[in-house]
Amino acid sequence: MGFLIAGGIGFIGSHTYISLRKRFPNARLVIVDNLTNSTIQTLNSLMEVTGDSILFHQLDLCDEQAVEHLFNRYHFHGILHFAGYKAVEESVVNPLKYYINNIQGTLNLVKQCLHYKIERFIFSSSATVYGNGKSPFKESDSLLPASSPYGQTKAICERILQDVAYANPWLRVSLLRYFNPIGAHESGLIGESPTSLPSNLMPYITKVAKGELPILKIFGGDYPTLDGTAVRDYIHVMDVAEGHVAALEHVRRGAHVYNLGTGRGTSVLQLVRAFEQVNGIKVPYQIVERRPGDLASVYANVHKAESGLQWKASRTIENMCRDAWNFEKRNILI
Ligand code: UFG
Repeated sequence: MGFLIAGGIGFIGSHTYISLRKRFPNARLVIVDNLTNSTIQTLNSLMEVTGDSILFHQLDLCDEQAVEHLFNRYHFHGILHFAGYKAVEESVVNPLKYYINNIQGTLNLVKQCLHYKIERFIFSSSATVYGNGKSPFKESDSLLPASSPYGQTKAICERILQDVAYANPWLRVSLLRYFNPIGAHESGLIGESPTSLPSNLMPYITKVAKGELPILKIFGGDYPTLDGTAVRDYIHVMDVAEGHVAALEHVRRGAHVYNLGTGRGTSVLQLVRAFEQVNGIKVPYQIVERRPGDLASVYANVHKAESGLQWKASRTIENMCRDAWNFEKRNILI
């Protein structure tokens, strides 16, 4: 059994490697990553956590020849595709970078998938494809235009995979729409390590807690929510990782969409308070203007994933806060 993990050094990919190894102790797992938003240190940590000597190739999925070469070399039974740019704001400033990278990379993988008749394909999508619809979001909701080029690339890749699966009935595709993955592996060795200034909430909180950034700016205190701050469906990254293993095991013919979330909303302030309480550390914050494009409340309906994948997120907000801080704290000592 062999699986390709494209983007396997990134946040979700690296955690999924750990879950895959646990579930398939004898499988050949090959990671490719171009290291644009990840560091090679994560590979060493992955080896430490799993005890594997990992098969890794630094490779850009847009380099079609290199991708062909990879598939010539290994025989895969499944592909898990995490590789893609993901900074929403950057995608607005530099849309072409996103359209070229995220779509071309996916196309090159899909071509090989068809060429070698690789039956299983798991794609990292995002709740952002729901656009500015209304929570709780259901897989059958119609997709409103995503608010960013990043979101559009996810919607376009979903469509490509749906069309290809329709034309090739032997193909089994899972399109996993993540809500807000946070936290870290419980070892504290693997976590979220953005290579530039974090734009997402949890990595920003941990940097402020660590003293690397002076203050957390909370974007918007006047949303129609319980405390005025925006609500999201935060999910532990290890639950997301286990969701991929479940998706690989339960993948059916055709292309099937699943939300990976908890189904519960947490406000920014609630998350900050939980972080402070669990870790016994202060996070100075200031409430500022809303961030353009943000929605008041985004959370998932998770019934389809629970029944179709026989998977359910089990970790709490407290687990997420503790593990995220454990990882960040460990980095202080390095
Ligand atoms: N926030 C702050 N301060 C910060 C960073 C974030 O207040 O410094 C707030 C945001 O305004 C938002 C919440 O925290 O209300 C969560 O923001 P994130 O940037 O962490 O996450 P988003 O919900 O904006 O976006 C995430 C992913 C996207 C994905 C989207 C899908 O980052 O890739 O969920 O809904 F598209």
